[in-house]
Amino acid sequence: MDTADIEGDLTEVLYTEGQIHARIAELCRQIEADYEGRDLLIVGVLKGAVMVMADLARELKRDVEMDWMATSSYGTSTESSGVVRIVKDLDTDIAGRNVLIVEDIVDSGLTLSWLRTNLESRNPASLEVCALLRKPEAAKVDIEARYVGFDIPNAFVVGYGLDYAERYRNLRSIGILAPHVYS
Ligand code: XMP
Ligand code: MG
Repeated sequence: MDTADIEGDLTEVLYTEGQIHARIAELCRQIEADYEGRDLLIVGVLKGAVMVMADLARELKRDVEMDWMATSSYGTSTESSGVVRIVKDLDTDIAGRNVLIVEDIVDSGLTLSWLRTNLESRNPASLEVCALLRKPEAAKVDIEARYVGFDIPNAFVVGYGLDYAERYRNLRSIGILAPHVYS
């Protein structure tokens, strides 16, 4: 789906498909260098990270394992509470593994902070975070994300995996959702 199909629902396109792919390629070169000679397990957080996982995994010029987790946060549709429940856990025992969490977005940071603590307790050899987007102005907790695609303004964004009420995930670009859609 192209932005033209939902014109009026976005106030602005922040990143086109081409810009997203170019940035992911840069992140992949860093990841390849950092993990050279070590195993790598990337963990995607459903459902928002599906697109970035698919593109990142295929862009990586190395062997990589993929696993998935699904969490649900108690909160409103546009704001998370930090109280997280595991809906689907990993299939992989991550003890001794080099784990890279792949997220669509770090907003308040509450979800990732919880997830990091949870996965850390399983004793991985290493644990890092790759987030395509980050909202620095929205941070409520400090998240150490080694790989970040883009820092964005504090606005609700959709597309490329990110949804509002399960819509817009299949948009190829990322844009700011017009307030009239959710108010
Ligand atoms: P935080 O960091 O606040 O974010 O715990 C938790 C999850 O909320 C979703 N999220 C968004 N989804 N547009 C979206 O479509 C946004 O602007 C946005 N901000 C947060 C996302 O799933 C994130 O993992
Ligand atoms: Mg998410």
